[in-house]
Amino acid sequence: MFGRRDGDKKRMRLWTHMTTTARQRLFDDCYGTKHIQLQILATHPTYQRKGAGKALCNWGIEMARRRGMAICVFASPMGRNLYDCLGFRNKAHVRIWVDGESESILLAAMIYEPVTLMVSGKRGLIPRN
Ligand SMILES: CC(C)(COP(=O)(O)OP(=O)(O)OC[C@H]1O[C@@H](n2cnc3c(N)ncnc32)[C@H](O)[C@@H]1OP(=O)(O)O)[C@@H](O)C(=O)NCCC(=O)NCCS
Repeated sequence: MFGRRDGDKKRMRLWTHMTTTARQRLFDDCYGTKHIQLQILATHPTYQRKGAGKALCNWGIEMARRRGMAICVFASPMGRNLYDCLGFRNKAHVRIWVDGESESILLAAMIYEPVTLMVSGKRGLIPRN
């Protein structure tokens, strides 16, 4: 039986370290508590390119918009086109590369900043729910 490549301990440890560090620098330091992070998104290969990924993301985007929050994601190479077409912008790249291995993965740290509808409140403009 083949070993699970995605369960490789060195890769998993490096993944956690790199994404934790990058999240702090690229997302937490900029948006504080005013952001949510999209963690895992996958569509079964049989059902890909039928709009499921887009529909799920649009649901999250609407939820974030209502709360006036940004959305952050570390996009895989496969996810990149989806987030591009939804209006996410690329902020930086994070390469995960275990020493001595020939393969690596390039993640795109992407951000979506919903245009929050604002209304006039006692203390000036406030997000509309
Ligand atoms: C990324 C993923 C979740 C997309 O799910 P999906 O349900 O197929 O996405 P959708 O059908 O809603 O695609 C919406 C748009 O995204 C873009 N897109 C999605 N998959 C694409 C692909 N493989 N190549 C190019 N563009 C793609 C297209 O613009 C597409 O619109 P179109 O089909 O009208 O051209 C799916 O490919 C997947 O599960 N990949 C493996 C796991 C992964 O990498 N997840 C991302 C983690 S950040």
